[in-house]
Amino acid sequence: MTSWTPESWRNFPIRQVPTYPNPDQLKSVEQRLASYPPLVFAGEARELRRQFQQVTEGKAFLLQGGDCAESFAEFSANSIRDTFKVMLQMAVVLTFAGGCPVVKVGRMAGQFAKPRSADTETIDGIELPSYRGDIINNIDFTSESRIPDPERMVQAYNQSAATLNLLRAFAQGGMADLHKVHQWNLDFVEKSPLGERYQNLASRIDETLAFMEACGINNDTTPQLKETTLYTSHEALLLPYEQALTRQDSLTGQWYDCAAHMLWIGDRTRQPDGAHVEFLRGVHNPIGIKAGPTTDPEDLLRLIDILNPTNDPGRLNIIVRMGAGKVEEHMPRLLQAIKREGKHVLWSSDPMHGNTIKASSGYKTRSVASVLSEVKSFFQIHKAEGTYAGGVHFEMTGRNVTECIGGAYEITEDQLGDRYHTHCDPRLNADQVLELAFLIADSLKEARR
Ligand code: PEP
Ligand code: CO
Repeated sequence: MTSWTPESWRNFPIRQVPTYPNPDQLKSVEQRLASYPPLVFAGEARELRRQFQQVTEGKAFLLQGGDCAESFAEFSANSIRDTFKVMLQMAVVLTFAGGCPVVKVGRMAGQFAKPRSADTETIDGIELPSYRGDIINNIDFTSESRIPDPERMVQAYNQSAATLNLLRAFAQGGMADLHKVHQWNLDFVEKSPLGERYQNLASRIDETLAFMEACGINNDTTPQLKETTLYTSHEALLLPYEQALTRQDSLTGQWYDCAAHMLWIGDRTRQPDGAHVEFLRGVHNPIGIKAGPTTDPEDLLRLIDILNPTNDPGRLNIIVRMGAGKVEEHMPRLLQAIKREGKHVLWSSDPMHGNTIKASSGYKTRSVASVLSEVKSFFQIHKAEGTYAGGVHFEMTGRNVTECIGGAYEITEDQLGDRYHTHCDPRLNADQVLELAFLIADSLKEARR
């Protein structure tokens, strides 16, 4: 293999990255971004790798979630707060059920670039380049809007910095107090039409907290009860941006992509000889690889060798996104191949991307039932193969949107238009995703027995 540099990806075939009309302007933005402070620092990414190792070894569970695509329009303190809140609520439920730490990673503070199945979009006979995320072009359907604009990278950087700042404040500044977070869960259970179903788990958590309190374990004696860490992640798609934020760690001399703690490779850009794999093999962050129904076990093994030649547990997360009803057919051969070769990887389930359907009204949607079904199968298959179901990966928001159908409030196809705000794929709303956490709790508990 040739030697790696932050720009060696430029010599490899690349997919899904736009051609900017003005290369000089692109260059100047790249230089500016390269001079800006990193968003995260290497020590944090290393700590996340250590936690991924715990998950890989079955000692912790990974919860990853957030928007399909962050947008400039939906940027507000309230939406960041609400997504943070619901991540924490889910984490409490899963921690209690699994009796193990939950590592929390947001699709936040940098999740802007989107791979697209088609290069163009046609509406009423007019064909325009596809929208590729706010970091690249504008979602409005005009030819002007769809021209890739490098200045958008600077806006994405600034928005990521402000988001991360608020997340860090929430995590350390009292918002993550376990007692408070659980109180939010009790409110949820009380209001939910399926509340009775969750009552038992919620009151057991309540009793446990009261018991701890009685034993003198409280926020003053145990600061972990009021603080947490939420790591950030996004798809490493727009390589000029990722390269500009890649820095050499002064302590170890290793390179880190300091745009986020964790980066992943999408299902459309995982070619072993492609630019995205080349870029990510040289940075030392924990890395995710999306694995869809077309993932071939031998290709996956090749990717693993390229991205993790020393077979470090904690480096790689295979994010399985097959679809309900397909995961049984496609996942076992991947698990078997990796087990056979003795590779250490963290397995997680993305039950969103294989379950996208088009409603008769034209909206892209997903049903809570298929999401739940894929996660349940994921747990069952791991049980059968003797491997560890390490985590879940959701597209979700803390806001009360109507983008996915089903759930306790039984959102129907007809209601999708009420509050359909996503810039890309349909997200679970706060009630739906929390309900899923309660439902998954049983599978997690059983798996950890
Ligand atoms: C995504 O995670 O938003 C995404 C595009 O996923 P995938 O690459 O698995 O389709
Ligand atoms: Co998506």
